[in-house]
Amino acid sequence: MMPPAETILSVENVAVHFGGLVAISDMTFSVSRGEIVALIGPNGAGKTTAFNVITGFLKATSGEVRYRTAVLNGLKPHEISRLGLVRTFQRTSVFQENSVFHNVMIGLHTRGRSKLWDTLLGTSRERESERELVNAALEILKFVGLEHRTTTLAANLAYGEQRLLGVALALAAKPSMLLLDEPVSGMNATETARFVKLVEKIRDAGTTILLVEHDMQMVMKVSDRVVVLNYGRIIAEGAPGQIQNNPEVIRAYLGQRKKRA
Ligand SMILES: Nc1ncnc2c1ncn2[C@@H]1O[C@H](COP(=O)(O)OP(=O)(O)O)[C@@H](O)[C@H]1O
Ligand SMILES: [Mg+2]
Repeated sequence: MMPPAETILSVENVAVHFGGLVAISDMTFSVSRGEIVALIGPNGAGKTTAFNVITGFLKATSGEVRYRTAVLNGLKPHEISRLGLVRTFQRTSVFQENSVFHNVMIGLHTRGRSKLWDTLLGTSRERESERELVNAALEILKFVGLEHRTTTLAANLAYGEQRLLGVALALAAKPSMLLLDEPVSGMNATETARFVKLVEKIRDAGTTILLVEHDMQMVMKVSDRVVVLNYGRIIAEGAPGQIQNNPEVIRAYLGQRKKRA
């Protein structure tokens, strides 16, 4: 028998109200260590809101979010990422004027140290760890497949490569769990296929993944489990195959297409 899965993230009875609007009501789900879980749903379902609550960018009106042993309610985004729960942003948030390599170095620096004086004085211990940072940066860039772009300005990267750099920056923070907000939106099929491989590689290296995504095909390919939101409520949860054939899920997505037409 398989050992019972260890819950790493749990969202319990979370509600988010914006004035009179209920963006999320009574949302409960969890993610186990090593899983790739996708949060999907039609436009306006509450996916981004859920993401923002988990990562501390929004306050839950009620309910609780826990990561390992910590209650996240009330923590600031940087406090949450220091616990190992790290996110990427829907819009790329790389440093456009810097080289790819420099971007990752900045990421590593903001994680590692605030010992300004050590850096200014350049003690040998500091130089040693600077060399370690350089190696770590190169390793991360190799991992995401940007090693041939180290000297390129971030602004000059192709769109898909910019998203890879966003992931590299997130990885520089040493996440035990990575949250991806619509990672393949705007990517072409080749870039998407490459990104799916990267997500699997990140998981295989020991990082748990929660992603919010519109691209159904991508979600069905990459996820172990899918959680479906509609009008702020979870309407289905299960393996990709089960979700694809769930009548309520199909209705929710068809309803959206009708509204758009
Ligand atoms: N800051 C906000 N103020 C008011 N309403 C919001 C705000 N953010 C989101 N909403 C509303 O909450 C609902 C869920 O939005 P969102 O989480 O962005 O959905 P999704 O990401 O699934 O498309 C929508 O009805 C949206 O209009
Ligand atoms: Mg959204």
